[in-house]
Amino acid sequence: MEPFRIKAVEPIPFPSRAQRRRALQDAGFNLFRVPAAAITIDLLTDSGTSAMSAAQWAALMVGDESYAGARSYQRFEQVVRELTGYAEVIPVHQGRAAERILLGRLLRPGDLSVSNTHFDTTRASVEAAGARAVDLPAEAVGPVAFGGDLSVPALRDLLTGPDGGSVRCVVVTVTNNAGGGQPVSLGNVVAVRELCDRHGVTLLLDASRFAENAYLITERDPAQAGRPPRDVAREVFALADGCWASLKKDGIANIGGLIALRDADLARRCRDQLIAVEGFPTYGGLAGRDLEALAQGLLEVTDPDYLRYRAQTTRWFGDRLADAGLPVLQPTGCHAVYVDAAALLPHVPPHRLPATALANELYLAGAVRVSELGTLVFGRPDPDGGDDLPAPRELVRFALPRRVYTKSHLEYVVETAAEVVAKATEIPGYRVVEQTGPLRHFTAVLAPGEPGGPAALPGRPAPDPTSPPRAPH
Ligand code: F0G
Repeated sequence: MEPFRIKAVEPIPFPSRAQRRRALQDAGFNLFRVPAAAITIDLLTDSGTSAMSAAQWAALMVGDESYAGARSYQRFEQVVRELTGYAEVIPVHQGRAAERILLGRLLRPGDLSVSNTHFDTTRASVEAAGARAVDLPAEAVGPVAFGGDLSVPALRDLLTGPDGGSVRCVVVTVTNNAGGGQPVSLGNVVAVRELCDRHGVTLLLDASRFAENAYLITERDPAQAGRPPRDVAREVFALADGCWASLKKDGIANIGGLIALRDADLARRCRDQLIAVEGFPTYGGLAGRDLEALAQGLLEVTDPDYLRYRAQTTRWFGDRLADAGLPVLQPTGCHAVYVDAAALLPHVPPHRLPATALANELYLAGAVRVSELGTLVFGRPDPDGGDDLPAPRELVRFALPRRVYTKSHLEYVVETAAEVVAKATEIPGYRVVEQTGPLRHFTAVLAPGEPGGPAALPGRPAPDPTSPPRAPH
């Protein structure tokens, strides 16, 4: 059960079926464009959506808003140093700012960055530096304990092959969000460290969910059972040369990020860029009160009672969604349950966006918002104007904000899912009507059905062509 009780509450909206249909249509059938006021349960992301503790709210009040050398920075720096062991601590406003600053200083055109999986913003920062992002996830056959591992044989082959000299950094993303939220084992980080040492390559962590990864190590690796998750996290940090993190996840706060490094010269170059794009090095785009809330969050997040609750809730939720008939990826991690939309909707081909189709249907059935991790996010428009090039998998992610929803909220999501499963064969595919750029999923406008065919959802009125989709706010 939840290792906390609730002290502040926020009402949630209950839009009617007609309001949901209208909201989705006005949003161009893209859930990113649906206003939160039309969402009952929002499982779009676990990022920046956490509930803060009483201690974090109290910490806000002692925030020091001095421009330079604020007390709040010193507290943040001390907590991060104690946790990571890295001397150089640089705050930023969120994870992608850290990626842009750090990878932009480290990578040169033609370099390679290798990872278990680059998150989409990480890949964008690698490519912005003129470098190439190479994903080498370990091939998982069936459910495995550490499905987030980086493939050590593939990394060895790359480092000893003709492109070996171009590898500038290895990035281990813990947990592997884009790869199903699965943890990376301690043994894997040790093996990757050895290869990096042998070939003179920098090893970095994307530590956005470091605490959840550490907890899952203690659960799934018998040799680590019973260890405090904070000790395990420290050991993982000790194996790398530095890290960045979106603290909107395991900082249990609503905004924030960091870069932490051993290399003082690289840190100096990052700070020079930080001043140009984020702010002075002791606030980096954050208010002093944010730094206080983050410092407190970074202490709370490794509490074993909290992490046990988090892993158990996600497991329970995944099992109930599977009972309701959704093809759930097993084992579940901590921050989300992933569902295979292609297996549920075999009649919807990848270029008709089965993951989007499932996500939209969950919204129509119960104002539940989840995110698509399929062809809309990871596929690419065909340069020759044909069908979209499909993503490797058509996943839907039910992300769980930290300390926000109770068991009865999640039971409601399970009931909604059962309703959707019952009419799975009727769920229509979608096509992209308007899109821009490599992160097209945030703003794309979609329509149900085939090009030139009826654009209506089955059993529902056709969209009103005189009512164009509203721009996102
Ligand atoms: N790295 C990982 C592993 C992430 O999951 C994210 C964000 C980032 C970096 C970027 O951090 O959003 O603070 O700029 N993931 C969010 C998600 C958006 O929903 O999974 P950011």
